[in-house]
Amino acid sequence: MSHGKIIIFDTTLRDGEQSPGASMDVHEKVLVAKQLEALGVDKIEAGFPVSSPGDFDAVQAVAGEIRKSMIVGLCRARETDIRAAWDAVKEAKKPGLHTFIGTSDIHLKYQLNMSASEVLKAVEGSVKACRSLCRDVEFSAMDATRSDWGFLVDVYSAAIAAGANTINVPDTVGYTNPQEFFNLITHLKKKVKKIEDAVIAVHCHNDLGMATANSVSAVMAGARQIECTINGIGERAGNTSLEEVVMIFNVRKDLYKLNTSIDTTQIYPASRLVSHITGIPVQPNKAIVGSNAFAHESGIHQDGYLKERSTYEIMTPEAIGYGKTNLVLGKHSGRHALSKRLESLGYRLADEDVNKVFRRFKEISDKKKEIFDADIEAIVIEEIYRVPDKYELRHVNVASGTVSTPSATVVLAVEGEEIKESRFGNGPVDALYKTIIHMTGFDAELKRFSVSSITGGTDAQGEVTVELADRGVVSVGQGADPDILVASAKALVNAMNRMEFLKNRKSKENPHL
Ligand code: KIV
Ligand code: ZN
Repeated sequence: MSHGKIIIFDTTLRDGEQSPGASMDVHEKVLVAKQLEALGVDKIEAGFPVSSPGDFDAVQAVAGEIRKSMIVGLCRARETDIRAAWDAVKEAKKPGLHTFIGTSDIHLKYQLNMSASEVLKAVEGSVKACRSLCRDVEFSAMDATRSDWGFLVDVYSAAIAAGANTINVPDTVGYTNPQEFFNLITHLKKKVKKIEDAVIAVHCHNDLGMATANSVSAVMAGARQIECTINGIGERAGNTSLEEVVMIFNVRKDLYKLNTSIDTTQIYPASRLVSHITGIPVQPNKAIVGSNAFAHESGIHQDGYLKERSTYEIMTPEAIGYGKTNLVLGKHSGRHALSKRLESLGYRLADEDVNKVFRRFKEISDKKKEIFDADIEAIVIEEIYRVPDKYELRHVNVASGTVSTPSATVVLAVEGEEIKESRFGNGPVDALYKTIIHMTGFDAELKRFSVSSITGGTDAQGEVTVELADRGVVSVGQGADPDILVASAKALVNAMNRMEFLKNRKSKENPHL
């Protein structure tokens, strides 16, 4: 028997986007939002509209596309923020506003320079202003877990009196533990006035690795909304991971007797999509979605698993949509088969985009016998979800071996104008990168270079990830190709284009943030 429902509030597009290098443009945010809707999340926090014109446009575009999930805009307790957030979400079928202010002594003193009574007034005023525009209003007491519990009771009571229907208790700095958080939620449930008129939400960060445990503990104390992100991405060490909390309530129905509205078979496609779009890889041992999450390595485990899956498996890979569609496509597969596969991978593309992917799919299937899901994902990212390019890679030729000095020749178009250069290097990748950097004069530090094979076999596509940093801006680029040197060049050029995009966007950001 179920004892109720947990509301899943996804903040991949807002807090998740605050991960270093994870910025998404309008097109990318809409794509992720569509997958979140297919996943069945109740609420999508699409962004912080006042922060930049780009984010405003992205939230507005998401609000225009999504019909089932509520689209929430974040705003501080300020009139300009509230106005921008409302303007961005008001066309949504189900709009929501989320306003917040710091409540801990540290925030009051150092960030806000406000007294407790001034904060209380701001809470009342901002929640009222939100309610005058929108039916669904959430209020967050930022840094709640380091705030005075008595003050929190006053703040949340004021927010509910002003019309908030959700009160959120954020562990902004990932400081609390499951026992303490349980006690805090229990205290608020007992003491906050008219608490029965609001849903208690929790928003945990993972600085001490306890975000998921803290969220579950809060639910046991009576919270009924969890704020989370795909793959747990987010500010610093990230947020509670959606896939973890959802599968906890799914696998341990016997214990919690609570439901979510999530279609768990869409979890894996969502994880892959977010990882590809943000360029943030998923660690192999990540719970639920890591590549080793369903791998059985030791002899005893393999033996038991082969006799009976449940000996070492508490959930099936199929339950999260992993492996369900991992059928191989090849040279003779048609556009229809490809388009069906794209859908099951979470890509809902316009016809002309399917055509672009199909063209590249045909080129690759001439070189590679079997095309796996991971290959298709790589093609989609390559062909469709690139930021507008300043640099375009036209040709690459690399010579290396045991006797000759490695050298590379590269033809690039910079804003449409073609340039060509050749240089030597210590290895083929070094020659390639030195050439590209020298010919463009691009200046950034290479923080990460990693190569992996997308699928097995010597004809597998190589996937290269590159991370660049320049004066506080971090960009991540990816490239995939059956030739790993071509993939390396594509990844670098992609990271350079992303860096340009991020710098442009940063220069347009609201200076008051
Ligand atoms: O971590 C936090 O406190 C936040 C708030 C805006 C809810 O992200
Ligand atoms: Zn947060």
